[in-house]
Amino acid sequence: MVNTILKEDVRFFSGNSNIPLSQAIVNYLGVSLSPAIVSRFPDGEIQVRCLESVRGKDVFIIQSTQTPAENLLELLILIDAVKRASARSITAVVPFFGYARQDRKTKSREPISAKLVSNLITTAGASRVVAVDLHAAQIQGFFDIPTDNLTAVLILGKYFRELNLENPVVVAPDVGAVQRATDFAKEIPNSTQAIFVKKRLSPYEVDTSRLIGEVEGKTVILVDDAIHTGNTLINAANEVLRRGAKAVYATATHGIFAQDSLKKFEGSPIKEIVVTDTLPVLSRPELISKVKVLSVAPLIGEAIKRIIMHESISELFEKKEI
Ligand code: R5P
Repeated sequence: MVNTILKEDVRFFSGNSNIPLSQAIVNYLGVSLSPAIVSRFPDGEIQVRCLESVRGKDVFIIQSTQTPAENLLELLILIDAVKRASARSITAVVPFFGYARQDRKTKSREPISAKLVSNLITTAGASRVVAVDLHAAQIQGFFDIPTDNLTAVLILGKYFRELNLENPVVVAPDVGAVQRATDFAKEIPNSTQAIFVKKRLSPYEVDTSRLIGEVEGKTVILVDDAIHTGNTLINAANEVLRRGAKAVYATATHGIFAQDSLKKFEGSPIKEIVVTDTLPVLSRPELISKVKVLSVAPLIGEAIKRIIMHESISELFEKKEI
């Protein structure tokens, strides 16, 4: 039945931000992406046209919104296009939800960019949002439409569980990562936990010298939501080794890998960095062999199936086989 519904009532479109993932999601579902022009006018502005009717259909638009901001604009314009073409429902599938770091005012005269972006997506016409590991769980509440914040923790946890690391300690590189690290630690038998009290000096600099917990003689797994410059993880790795850790691994859902971070990871003591494909890491020409990429396509595909079938999604937070 799900296959008939998928083919007859549902349509999938993708922006250009992460086509391999969009393709993997529709492959998982056994359908195809609908044809669309998502390109540029000669002056560089975004041009969109869906080349298939969506009248009365449930439409899923898959697009991560990493920098450049054109990725976000492509998503908004695609939503507008299908809204004006009389789609019955529009789900914005945003595997990496960008502009999420300014999610509250920490100083005067700062924006709350995450709220602004949520408003833009809703105003454009989305009726539902599916994201993966939002930078902060409360961003879910910035939307007044159904929003599913999926998590890759089970996928990453399964990978590390199967490594059977000796004497593992799961370390949150900052206080914001504690919940994620705690959820991850549940997947790693016999693991203990530790927490860094990170001080962010600037977007480029962090002080990771205060650690709560024991790492001496242990195998450290650093768990974060995202890797930007890599400084948080590399500083934390150096610090745990200084305190006697035997080896360090790192994992995060979103591998942004800004600037020369891949090069920095290559020269770092971290043995392996495990991320997912919410961003097109595998197409980075400077990718290094230490970086392992796991796919969230089955997770998102399964969530889409359940949305279509009006089934519960909460099981995806518990099931071990996805
Ligand atoms: C911060 O709150 C996030 O959870 C990450 O720790 C941060 O985005 C990592 O940034 P970077 O790689 O630049 O240290």
